[in-house]
Amino acid sequence: MFAKRMQRVTPSAIMELIKTTAAGDFISFASGLPDPALFPVELLREITDDVLARDGRGALQYGAAEGYAPLRELVAGILRHRSLEATPEHVLITTGSQQAIDLAARALLDPGDRVLIETPSYLAAIQTFDSYEVQYQPLETDAEGIVPERLPEDPGGAKLLYVLPTFQNPTGHTMYRRGREAVAAYVDRHGLAVLEDDAYHDLRYEGIPQPPICALTRSPWTIYTGTFSKVIAPGLRVGYLCAQPELVARLAQLKQITDLHSGSLSQRVVHEYCVRGYLEPGIQLFRSTYTARLTAMLEALQAEMPDRVEWTRPEGGMFVWMMLPRGIDVDALLRQAMERGVVFVPGATFHPDGRGQHTLRLNFVSADEERIRRGIAILGELLRGTIAGS
Ligand SMILES: Cc1ncc(COP(=O)(O)O)c(C=O)c1O
Repeated sequence: MFAKRMQRVTPSAIMELIKTTAAGDFISFASGLPDPALFPVELLREITDDVLARDGRGALQYGAAEGYAPLRELVAGILRHRSLEATPEHVLITTGSQQAIDLAARALLDPGDRVLIETPSYLAAIQTFDSYEVQYQPLETDAEGIVPERLPEDPGGAKLLYVLPTFQNPTGHTMYRRGREAVAAYVDRHGLAVLEDDAYHDLRYEGIPQPPICALTRSPWTIYTGTFSKVIAPGLRVGYLCAQPELVARLAQLKQITDLHSGSLSQRVVHEYCVRGYLEPGIQLFRSTYTARLTAMLEALQAEMPDRVEWTRPEGGMFVWMMLPRGIDVDALLRQAMERGVVFVPGATFHPDGRGQHTLRLNFVSADEERIRRGIAILGELLRGTIAGS
């Protein structure tokens, strides 16, 4: 009875791994989850209480599809700081930025349409595009994201570019201004739509913020997405997109038939959290904790990994990407690692074209420094054995 599109809706390898390892005491480099110890539970409890006391009926009532007006205004202010043209009419509050990706894909893509996508890219976006039965035009990337010189001369009828230029999930790569400008010029030349996913924007540990590609192109078909998941808590499910008001209006109509609107209470709680000045100190806490963990992981990799193993050195975000010598069986390595209590995600999962067989993704924020060092020591030992025997 399933619709044809369900053929391309498959289980997420990451979710399956997380389920398998949930019961045991695994050192998990696999998940994409922030550290729950950093969630501002007490502050959110206090704020929720105040919101309900002050405006309980509004907070529990249906709301506008576009989002809670004061939150739209607040997000517009945040986005102007990121060099985007943003008034409240440019902002649509979404149920996590995952919904923004889904709305953009659903609004713009017909079955068979072609999407330009980095290889590798964010798994849940690939799964979203899959569900709309699209085709891919994979784009080559290096340590600075999309390689402008390697963009296809002819985008092959592609309609949309999906891009994560900042602390990319899964590689941790960041594109610098020159690369972003070149990609924006390519978008303009070929009349493409852009979906720019900036979920990790505030998790920067070094370097300076780069302008969004959406701020550099002249295309009216730009959708920029962001989220409070990584800087407050993902369970609130409050994200946003920024686009031209006419496009926001159309996407709001689509959102309305999806979930009517995002949670009225969550939106007010996020708004109040920001208005009370908690956002910036909260971001600082995420940053300092994650910086220490990234440092621990990079030092452990340096100390433990054999020659010919390479990895990225991200300026922010949550992930380090490892490249093993060709011929290493990453699935076999995962099985061995799991026997030793360590879990990671094989890199092929993140490739829309089945490449990446010799790569893997490590989350560096879930485990503390001591467990990171232990986990990397185990992976190093396994890899030394595997490479020596290959
Ligand atoms: C790159 C990227 N985009 C979007 C999301 C979606 O996050 P949320 O829906 O919680 O905003 C994630 C979550 O892990 C992500 O890694």
